[in-house]
Amino acid sequence: MKLAVLVSGRGSNLQALIDACKSEDYPAEIVLVLSNKADAYGLVRAQEAGIPTTVLSPKDFADRESFDAAMSDKIAETGAELVCLAGFMRLLSDGFVRTWRDRLINIHPSLLPSYKGLHVHERAIEDGARFSGCTVHFVRPAMDEGPIIAQAVVAVHPEDTADALAARILEQEHILYPRAVKLIAEGRIRVSAERVLIKDHTP
Ligand code: GRF
Repeated sequence: MKLAVLVSGRGSNLQALIDACKSEDYPAEIVLVLSNKADAYGLVRAQEAGIPTTVLSPKDFADRESFDAAMSDKIAETGAELVCLAGFMRLLSDGFVRTWRDRLINIHPSLLPSYKGLHVHERAIEDGARFSGCTVHFVRPAMDEGPIIAQAVVAVHPEDTADALAARILEQEHILYPRAVKLIAEGRIRVSAERVLIKDHTP
């Protein structure tokens, strides 16, 4: 399955996908890395892996709709069948989300539907949550909403700082995202009544 990965920054989740795709039996390949930021380190990672990159700057477009339409065209041109958001820090228009419905996924560093949005680790610690984690989900127009594909749970330690918790969750993200993509690429994921059904699921 051909993947397009959208990044705005560091790109460590992109790196996890790049590394997974190096395995011969991994059923996906990255055909495009697209960024809205020219200085995103994810672009360097892509170039080092020999993956085509594109930068689209929002300032070159009149509005969100035209920016997203350009992104959509670029992604479609590459033949990508699945779009993976990996730290892509821009709200997507309803049109873009509709075009790529059930072919557009995101990774978020909390156990959704808890802690949508930003500053998730601070909020989990502040609330005294005992567990947090990460979620891969299909994207819907509302931020951090949509059918859940996979989750990993991480314990919150009593002395945790937001940075320490973020780092432990990030390790799990790097395992979870390639796993979720693999399930999709193997054709084992179906969305029915806004829930994900997994064929031959072994937890
Ligand atoms: C990750 O924590 C991801 O869950 C969130 O943004 C962060 C991106 O990190 N959506 P990276 O750019 O993949 O290193």
